[in-house]
Amino acid sequence: MKIAPSLLSANFSDIKTDIKLLEKAGADLIHIDVMDGHFVPNLTVGPSFVDAVKKITDIPLDVHLMVDNPDMWIIPFYKAGASYITVHQEATPHLDDIIQKIHNFGIKAGISICPSTSEETIKYLLYDIDLVLVMSVNPGFGGQKFIKTQLKKVERLAQIREKKHLSYMIEVDGGVNDKNSDVLSAAGADILVAGSFIFSYKNYTDAIALLRGTLCRF
Ligand code: DX5
Ligand code: ZN
Repeated sequence: MKIAPSLLSANFSDIKTDIKLLEKAGADLIHIDVMDGHFVPNLTVGPSFVDAVKKITDIPLDVHLMVDNPDMWIIPFYKAGASYITVHQEATPHLDDIIQKIHNFGIKAGISICPSTSEETIKYLLYDIDLVLVMSVNPGFGGQKFIKTQLKKVERLAQIREKKHLSYMIEVDGGVNDKNSDVLSAAGADILVAGSFIFSYKNYTDAIALLRGTLCRF
């Protein structure tokens, strides 16, 4: 199981310290939530932030675009050093074109679906993408409660992947903690994004181990 800490809950006034601690803790990816105040009711960071993080670490950067018109942001985030760019199904009618654009830069392409969006809506794209990001909260804010119905979606995407011999990874984002990480893993999730859970711990190594199920609380 890969763990992708979301910097949304990190200490922005000393981001370098947090990133170095995440490196030590064995984070597989660094998840960066980009919000534009239109697609979601929150504003976060842009390409210059990704560029700054890239200069601090070699951990691959997993950029989650929660923005309208995602096509205009592919080049800036590619140049900033993203290893993965994930766009929302709900944000554009031209998903296929955007996926091709991302791949043309030689980086990984993902599609994210909100809790109310069916996996059926992206069935023709599952052959081309590197990952599906299942939102298990409504996008916009960290610290929300996990929406349990999304577990079925993870199971369904894992079944389709097996049946069709596809290779996309399944990433789950929102409300992930040590109480649901094992069921998510059993359902077929490959990457767990966690913000508030990891950063609520003093020791990020322990938090990540709890998510992987390699450290017991008792
Ligand atoms: C929500 C973001 C998530 C979020 C995860 O829109 O996509 O990455 O920050 O935070 P937690 O783990 O606190 O739900
Ligand atoms: Zn995210």
